[in-house]
Amino acid sequence: MATPCSSIESLPGLPEAGQRPYVVINMAMTADGKVATAGREVTTFGSPHDKKALYALRATADALLCGARTVEETGATLGTGSSEHRDARRRAGLAPEPVRVVVSGSGSLSSEAELWKRPGAPIVIFSAGNASKPNLQRLRNLGAEVWSSPGSQVDFPAALAWLADRHGIRRLVVEGGGRVNATLLAADCVDEIRLTWVPRIFGGQAAPTIADGPLAACLADAVRFRLVRVRTVGDERFLQYVRADRGAISRPAESTPPPV
Ligand SMILES: NC(=O)c1ccc[n+]([C@@H]2O[C@H](COP(=O)([O-])OP(=O)(O)OC[C@H]3O[C@@H](n4cnc5c(N)ncnc54)[C@H](OP(=O)(O)O)[C@@H]3O)[C@@H](O)[C@H]2O)c1
Repeated sequence: MATPCSSIESLPGLPEAGQRPYVVINMAMTADGKVATAGREVTTFGSPHDKKALYALRATADALLCGARTVEETGATLGTGSSEHRDARRRAGLAPEPVRVVVSGSGSLSSEAELWKRPGAPIVIFSAGNASKPNLQRLRNLGAEVWSSPGSQVDFPAALAWLADRHGIRRLVVEGGGRVNATLLAADCVDEIRLTWVPRIFGGQAAPTIADGPLAACLADAVRFRLVRVRTVGDERFLQYVRADRGAISRPAESTPPPV
């Protein structure tokens, strides 16, 4: 099990051989639980403060991870933001930029994605056994390092343990989308969730959510988290959850949520 870690000041040590890093999912969600509109026209909807919190969290990570569709649809380049964040990373003994990891089982991640246009930290692709050789070679030619699972899906425990071992990753921040999050949760690879709760309603049955994959058939099967911190800034709420069965993190809750 990974060591709990919630800030740049308290980075865990390197995982032992075969162990994965500490994994934090960070997402913005509407009041009706959507992370984009049904037609995916709207992918960014948090306030400037939400963006600031995202960059502050990225500054604590050895690596960032996204699904292929998120990278293509949002134009994410997984950068560090300002020089202030790079300075904080340097002071904490982190590399100037986090390693950028994209999950593309089929290896079909577009060559036109913005990510390729932004030089900087290494790019790693997690692919699966059904990816075509030409696709994987194309991604290598674009400059990526490719790690492949033998099966038809990325084996996340193995992929993350390889990432820790190969790149010295202790803390990984995951930025969606719903399919990647669901498969990480199903593989018991998530230690913490940060949610920005934005007071908008998108509606739409097809609109993506935080975890778009079957996880629980009954209440007892639900992946359980514990709320440890709530902050309200303007009309947004910033929620921090840790796995209910992972033990307490060192920092106490800043405030408790109102009774339901
Ligand atoms: N509000 C927010 O904070 C936020 C954050 C991020 C994303 N989003 C939204 O979420 C949407 C994207 O989410 P999404 O669920 O459609 O896509 P996604 O999770 O970003 O990417 C899905 C792709 O990742 C690969 N993949 C994921 N899990 C895999 C596994 N276990 N094995 C093999 N490959 C795997 C597959 O790539 P291949 O098809 O290449 O095999 C799959 O098509 C976008 O609309 C985006 O705007 C919102």
